Amino acid sequence: MLDYDQEAARYDETRGGEPRARAAADAILGLLLAGPRTLLDLACGTGIVTRRLTRPGLRPFGVDLADGMLRAAAPRLDGAVARADTRQLPFADGTFDAVTAIWLLHLLDDAAPVVAEAARVLRPGGVFVTTVDKAAAHHVGSDLCALVARHRGCRPADASGLVTSLAAAHGLRACGEAAFVGHGQGRTPRRVAADVRAGRLYATGGEALARALEALPEPRAPRPDPTYRILAFSADRR
Ligand SMILES: C[S@@+](CC[C@H](N)C(=O)[O-])C[C@H]1O[C@@H](n2cnc3c(N)ncnc32)[C@H](O)[C@@H]1O
Repeated sequence: MLDYDQEAARYDETRGGEPRARAAADAILGLLLAGPRTLLDLACGTGIVTRRLTRPGLRPFGVDLADGMLRAAAPRLDGAVARADTRQLPFADGTFDAVTAIWLLHLLDDAAPVVAEAARVLRPGGVFVTTVDKAAAHHVGSDLCALVARHRGCRPADASGLVTSLAAAHGLRACGEAAFVGHGQGRTPRRVAADVRAGRLYATGGEALARALEALPEPRAPRPDPTYRILAFSADRR
């Protein structure tokens, strides 16, 4: 995983800035139908998305592990942040009406502890909203897709089927789906090749895949902005 303490200074400008944040927040809010009053944003990062997760009567709270990210988030969220590991949250059972996790699960070796914690801190009837299938989104609809398709054998921690099974095991029932455009997130073949070489994308392929990517036309030209999937799960009314 990247060192997000170091990444904090350039995070917003390199992750689509306000247009990406607005698109993500609008998609999330559209899935929160029941008018939540308490919302916990897991891995809030710089708070660029979190601060938009507001409605009348709703004030979001963010947690993250990286102090650098939290320093950026604190003023944006009026101090409603805490340093916490999303795999072991410092909140009582049933505390929140909504829990969100945007661009978190794909970073983890195992999403299970996070899904379990999200389910635990949700009140009955609350909603868990998370991005899924992030890596796959980068290549859909471009010439990268055909090249990488056969290397999707590895199963990322945010694979939608896996997350849905984990959620079901904790009483979270699929209840909605949305998508948002990752403005400025279209990858160049060179960037994808670098990720492949660093082992960040696919378990197979390695150097041969990286070279094939670099041999595509215009390897320095970004491909279209990806569209990211978000799933929503409702907590059983126990
Ligand atoms: C790609 S950023 C996403 C930030 C934000 N959700 C957004 O969409 O802009 C991933 C964030 O996850 C945080 N993170 C990674 N593992 C974590 C964990 N186990 N507990 C809390 N935060 C974590 C990182 O510090 C980083 O801020």
